[in-house]
Amino acid sequence: MDKREMTNEENYHFDVTGYLIIPGVLTPDQLKACNEALDQLGNTASPSCVSSCAGLHFLRDHPVLTQYVEAICGEDFLLDRSPHLLEVNTNGSEDARVPLSGGSEWQDWSRAYRHHSGTRFCQGLRAIWAIADVNEDDGGLVVVSASHNSSVDAPQDLVSGDDDMGLVVQPTLQAGDLLLCAESVMWGIRPWQGQGPQRLLECGYISAGVRPSAASEITGEDDTMPEWTAELTPVQRAVLHNPNRGYPPPVVHSDGKTVSLSAEPGILHPSIYKRDPDSGIDEKEFFHWDLCGHLVLRGVMDADWLAAANEAIDANPDQISTGGSAAGDSKPLAGTGVGRSSMGNPWQLPAPYGEPFQRMIAHPALIQRMNWIMGSGYECMMCNGFLSGKGSSGHALHANGYPPRVANHYRQQNGRVYSEYLNVAWQLRDVTLADGGFVCVPGSHKTHYPMPDGIRTCDNEMDMVRHIEMKAGDVLLFLASAQTHGAYPWTGEQNRRMIFFQYRSRNLYAP
Ligand SMILES: [Fe+2]
Repeated sequence: MDKREMTNEENYHFDVTGYLIIPGVLTPDQLKACNEALDQLGNTASPSCVSSCAGLHFLRDHPVLTQYVEAICGEDFLLDRSPHLLEVNTNGSEDARVPLSGGSEWQDWSRAYRHHSGTRFCQGLRAIWAIADVNEDDGGLVVVSASHNSSVDAPQDLVSGDDDMGLVVQPTLQAGDLLLCAESVMWGIRPWQGQGPQRLLECGYISAGVRPSAASEITGEDDTMPEWTAELTPVQRAVLHNPNRGYPPPVVHSDGKTVSLSAEPGILHPSIYKRDPDSGIDEKEFFHWDLCGHLVLRGVMDADWLAAANEAIDANPDQISTGGSAAGDSKPLAGTGVGRSSMGNPWQLPAPYGEPFQRMIAHPALIQRMNWIMGSGYECMMCNGFLSGKGSSGHALHANGYPPRVANHYRQQNGRVYSEYLNVAWQLRDVTLADGGFVCVPGSHKTHYPMPDGIRTCDNEMDMVRHIEMKAGDVLLFLASAQTHGAYPWTGEQNRRMIFFQYRSRNLYAP
């Protein structure tokens, strides 16, 4: 079989989001055969019944699938789980929510996703065949995009489904599509609201050398230990290799002087650190920042402040300059040729007009976040008003986690995030999708692949470019050099009113 090189677009999508949809892999005849096989098995078929159905076996060996698995998991990959129907949850009530599982913290190396020294390790991969369509809002399978690259504990509200934090994605699929999903991506099954049955058949693959799922089915009851081990203590026997050992394995405790066997098997892996409830960091904000590379602080400015800032701009039209396009060679971002308007240094406007902008420089809500986002010692480098009118161009997407540079360095380690350049955008008016404005690729600050040209120009967004809706008074923070970002053309009736600041960490210097 030919070895498949994934395109940069495919690598970028899988690396940023943790999943990839390959459209239209199954032919109509193959789909018909699958649906007939499933009809024959009936809706209540057991997983083993589906797995052993000969008519579905071709799904696990499909050449398109195996070529992708080889590219992602490595050439000695193994089939870990035969095709089985994803759990169907047809009780439409919210109570029927199943908590999300997975996510990269804590890391199960046997299923982890990681880049190291130029090599991608994707140790577990779910391959999900859509045998019937899954439309928008159908429910069923959901994922948290980019969570395979998260090294932060997911907030409990997100796991339980009480707060999806705007992060839970329900992939839409057409019958015949193939969804590939890193096994460490957070995922879950939401109540099914679709018209027909949810028909998603999943197979699992693993890299060579890691624990297969079947290990969890071993009961450990058939003792195959050699005779000489009968004299050993239970602890010694628990630690000795046993080909028939169950999973999770036995836990042995020790205080350094004595050892004891835990009554229940499980995982013990102590950490030197404890979560600090007094850190002053909101755990949802921390998770969101690390996952996406941006954060919106809601309602920081009150009505009086907003009025003063807007009035300051209205009263100083002579300070507004109009330039050209920032769309580059992008057609979708070109607008209708109206120049982009801006106001340089609004904080320098004559009194009383500069004050509403000076208040933004070191606002407590901002300082509180910047202290954990960058560590102290940051400097505010610039302030600019983005005031473009209807028809003005957007901004071609730029910045990315790759190629790595000093200024786009981003890392989370030991409960701290390290960010070197931060952009802060204060919204003086509501911004909806109909207005245009700021867009970004959440998770792109961690990618190891170049930004595809279609993302840069928005000619091919690959369902990865996100427009961020905001209200007047909200403040957007984003990784200036690391998160891929830009702007749609301004299409709002009222001019854009965004005040833009840039902060540099204490670690950088540019003469
Ligand atoms: Fe930028």
